[in-house]
Amino acid sequence: MPWDMVRSVPRIVRAPHLFLTDVTARHGRAAAIPMPRTPVLVLADPAGVRRVLVENARGYGKATVQYSALATVTGPGLLAGDGPRWRAHRRVVQPAFHHGGLRDVAQHAVHAGLRLAAEADALPAGTPMEVLDATSRAGLEVVGHTLAAADLSADAPLLVEAVGRALEVVVRRAASPVPATWPTPSRRRLARAVATVDEVCARIVQRRAERDLDDPRDLVGLMLAAGMDDRQVRDELVTFVVAGHETVASSLTWTLHLLSRHAGALDRARAEAAALGGVPTWDDLPRLPYLRAVVDEALRLFPPAWVITRAALADDEVAGVRVPAGTLVIVCTWALHRDPELWEAAGEFRPERFLDGGRHDHYVPFGAGPRLCIGRDLALVEEVLVLAALLRTHTVRPAGPEPAVDALVTLRPRGGLPLHVERVAPDG
Ligand code: HEM
Repeated sequence: MPWDMVRSVPRIVRAPHLFLTDVTARHGRAAAIPMPRTPVLVLADPAGVRRVLVENARGYGKATVQYSALATVTGPGLLAGDGPRWRAHRRVVQPAFHHGGLRDVAQHAVHAGLRLAAEADALPAGTPMEVLDATSRAGLEVVGHTLAAADLSADAPLLVEAVGRALEVVVRRAASPVPATWPTPSRRRLARAVATVDEVCARIVQRRAERDLDDPRDLVGLMLAAGMDDRQVRDELVTFVVAGHETVASSLTWTLHLLSRHAGALDRARAEAAALGGVPTWDDLPRLPYLRAVVDEALRLFPPAWVITRAALADDEVAGVRVPAGTLVIVCTWALHRDPELWEAAGEFRPERFLDGGRHDHYVPFGAGPRLCIGRDLALVEEVLVLAALLRTHTVRPAGPEPAVDALVTLRPRGGLPLHVERVAPDG
């Protein structure tokens, strides 16, 4: 009821993922919320999610609050845009995510993992490592390379930092009652951050354009070779930073958090990495099934994309509920992944459940259907290899209480995640 909604506002602001879970637990896995202008459907029903994301994907668009806010930074890039332009751009960039490209990613992921280990070694004895910052730096190295080839990575930190600043304003504004068009200090901060983003992108594009564009495999090279204009390339560049950087950092952070609190899983993961006998490579991936299951399970419990939103383009029926055109559909990945009727011991960290290839309709950390994450394989290769490179020589131990979850653009540990990252074996 409307009054329930008003009363729930503080909870929605503080822990929206828990609020949505509560809604589906109390009112069903397809629950309508009576918002005054735009009807809302909160969805955590496997068949309903399939209907929206896969079977009737064309019946839903991306003109939602979530993606409109994102588009103030990314423009109508691959993540926030739809229609013919989205289809054309997806085809252009797809080759960067094929096997050849992933092999290069693997090399950079291992390097990033080794650097993470070296950063831990450089800390004074007993000092915890701020893991969210460290995994962000690690992810940066990989994303910088994927975007525009290695020698342009000098600009990547600037770009990521400015995108981060812009997104922070966007997320905070979304929770504020002040209209977004008012000339507030946050609006000016956003404008400054976006100006930096534009400058850095222009530099990256210009420098890439000056080099050989025959048979490119990096994203910017592919887009330039396909004749996309500077604005379109800029929008996709920023989209890839937003979509590919914070998600991986969030996922790696929660994975290390879970390992630090589950000795059995940590021992098994460390043994698997150590058994490789040296620094991991792309060819070692088939020998790291447990680490892959660890990453899968961490993505179940802490899906960085904790909601996926769509706007209904026409009337539809979803999980037995009538959905009028214009409805905002909120797929709550968090609730779906923790539903005790869909998962055995839903709240427990049990990587084994993914060992036998046990993937499910109700497991959608990367979405589903035509809008499935284009970076899924890249992210999984990256995370498994970063973790293998770190854990073959190091162990992790909690350095504070269980962190609260902040559900922002992605899920983040409130106030960061300090962990003791300690060397237990020499390099070799
Ligand atoms: C653990 C890491 C990641 C997670 C959890 C994740 C999650 C997702 C999800 C749920 C979607 C679908 C959104 C929707 O249907 O509305 C998506 C789309 C997308 N992701 Fe990822 N992602 C990750 C890593 C990456 C990486 C590494 C990249 C690129 C380097 C990337 C680029 C994209 C792009 C461009 C889209 C839009 C695809 C389209 O609609 O064509 N993601 N991601």
